[in-house]
Amino acid sequence: MMKIAATLLATIALATVNALDNGLALTPQMGWSSWNFYACNINESVIMNTAKAMVSNGMADAGYTYVNIDDCWAGGRYPNGTVYADPTNFPNGIKYVADYIHSLGLKIGIYTDAGTETCQKRVGSYGYEANDAQTYAEWGIDYVKEDWCYATLENPQQRYQIMSQALNATGRPMFFSLCDWGYENPWTFGMSVGNSWRTTPDIKDNWDSMLSNLMAQAPITSFSGIGGFNDPDMMMVGNGGMSNTEYVSHFSLWSLLNAPLIAGCDLIDIDQETLSILTASEVIAINQDPLGVQGSLVKSYNGGLQQIWAKPLSNGARAVVLFNTDTNPATIELLWGNIWMEPSQQLSIRNLWTQTNLGTFTESYESDSLIPPHGCIMLTLTPTN
Ligand SMILES: *[C@@H]1O[C@H](CO)[C@@H](O)[C@H](O)[C@H]1NC(C)=O
Ligand SMILES: *[C@@H]1O[C@H](CO)[C@@H](O)[C@H](O)[C@H]1NC(C)=O
Ligand SMILES: *[C@@H]1O[C@H](CO)[C@@H](O)[C@H](O)[C@H]1NC(C)=O
Repeated sequence: MMKIAATLLATIALATVNALDNGLALTPQMGWSSWNFYACNINESVIMNTAKAMVSNGMADAGYTYVNIDDCWAGGRYPNGTVYADPTNFPNGIKYVADYIHSLGLKIGIYTDAGTETCQKRVGSYGYEANDAQTYAEWGIDYVKEDWCYATLENPQQRYQIMSQALNATGRPMFFSLCDWGYENPWTFGMSVGNSWRTTPDIKDNWDSMLSNLMAQAPITSFSGIGGFNDPDMMMVGNGGMSNTEYVSHFSLWSLLNAPLIAGCDLIDIDQETLSILTASEVIAINQDPLGVQGSLVKSYNGGLQQIWAKPLSNGARAVVLFNTDTNPATIELLWGNIWMEPSQQLSIRNLWTQTNLGTFTESYESDSLIPPHGCIMLTLTPTN
């Protein structure tokens, strides 16, 4: 008992030191980014229509706040160094889009790069950090993602620190999202420099890529906490390369991992199934739990084919994902010892996807139905006394 509690407390304590003190990322950021669906094919109307759709389709009510313009918005620099938007795609400039997004009660994110050019060869912020941060603040930007193309000879911690300080110096709180794809272990310094840091290469819209980004989180879960989160990349839910069973697993695990919930699909023409995955309120609540402890891999069976991921919640309960990565259906047995609980503890179990109570159990729980291939069951287990 003492040992279980001490391990858990150590995890929580480690997660809250050194946070960047800009008042943001008290819970993982939620929003949408243009990249996964539109890539470089963006313009002001698609960004503004997406923001409008987020309000009308329930995404905003579910907690999605940031509307993030990814690569390809920048047009160039004036002779004095100030960056300007691409006049073809953003003819009214970025402030015009920001004002519209703010009028909807949402927040706007923008993209830049720590190198001389962005990945799509637009102007990067290298050497222009103070200038760009000031411009973003004047436009009313709320969120800055900084990529890592054409920057590979630099030390990421030092380079990102320059933008971090430049953003701070503007006096406008801007969420700072580091994106060096896990290069030089950003989780070891990210907390003092930014509000989230990418931990892996870009996610692709397929099962293997999603699983690979997931498994890369297992050794580093303790580095995330209130103020700064491990980022296994934006979500692919709704983009068509995985089944809905797989997207439910993707969404469940990203939620449990305190990953940023940044949707990456077409929100203007979204189907009901995708919308119901992205707005599953009890699943989102696990991601947004104020305790801020990232879920971790607590048990593997059959060489990892079946996995249990779990996290403690602020109310003393545990959230659990029973995850079957196999191509055959399976059951998974959860022991209370896996989730920092005494065997004698009575736990009331709720299924977060079906939103049903499953009863009260001691010692262990085993799903009575098989978990489908690549599927999962997501639960909360709450002490009854
Ligand atoms: C800037 O950094 C200081 C010191 O960490 C912090 O107190 C302040 O809130 C920060 N301001 C912004 C706008 O991020
Ligand atoms: C804006 O971008 C969207 C998405 O790529 C595209 O369908 C639309 O035609 C574009 N509109 C203009 C005016 O370029
Ligand atoms: C730089 O030049 C542009 C275009 O003339 C102007 O709009 C902007 O205010 C200037 N920026 C600064 C910091 O002087």
